Amino acid sequence: MKRLRLREIYEHPITKKYVKRSGLAHAIATAEIAFELSKTYNVSPDLATKAAFLHDIGHYTWYKDGQWDYELYKENDIHAIKGAERSHKLLIRLGEDRVAAKQISLAILLHTDSYLPTSSIEREPLQEVVASADEQDEEPGGFHHYRKITESEAIRRLTNLDEKIDQYKVNGKEHLPVK
Ligand SMILES: [Fe+2]
Ligand SMILES: [Fe+2]
Repeated sequence: MKRLRLREIYEHPITKKYVKRSGLAHAIATAEIAFELSKTYNVSPDLATKAAFLHDIGHYTWYKDGQWDYELYKENDIHAIKGAERSHKLLIRLGEDRVAAKQISLAILLHTDSYLPTSSIEREPLQEVVASADEQDEEPGGFHHYRKITESEAIRRLTNLDEKIDQYKVNGKEHLPVK
């Protein structure tokens, strides 16, 4: 089966709308870090980069009088839950393998514990890669969500990642699309 590429995911209007809302630069940087981490954790770089790229796709904007209301956000945010569902629907529409779509969606659901009453997530390696990549790209005060990137730079970096994923081999064999 032909691999669904990051570039194809990026071209979909749903991705453009929601990934840009929470920061395209952060999404791409997180995917790049996840690619590197996937080697250490021995998980599929295809799944890790897709989950990392889409991890914040569930964000809603919590503005009050033109200002981000952090209290409102903390009380009401469910972006990981929303993102898991939104990314799953998007991936299935784009023809992603169903097993892969579930794994990606789960990694998005578990990338943060901010919506849970207690922080008690036990993550599998793929989920850990995504959570850790996200954390590595975070900036104090949530500034990572506002970092800018041009359209041409975004496309260049996603294409570069796609090429690296295509070339990546585990133990001399092509990696399987699913862990
Ligand atoms: Fe997040
Ligand atoms: Fe994030």
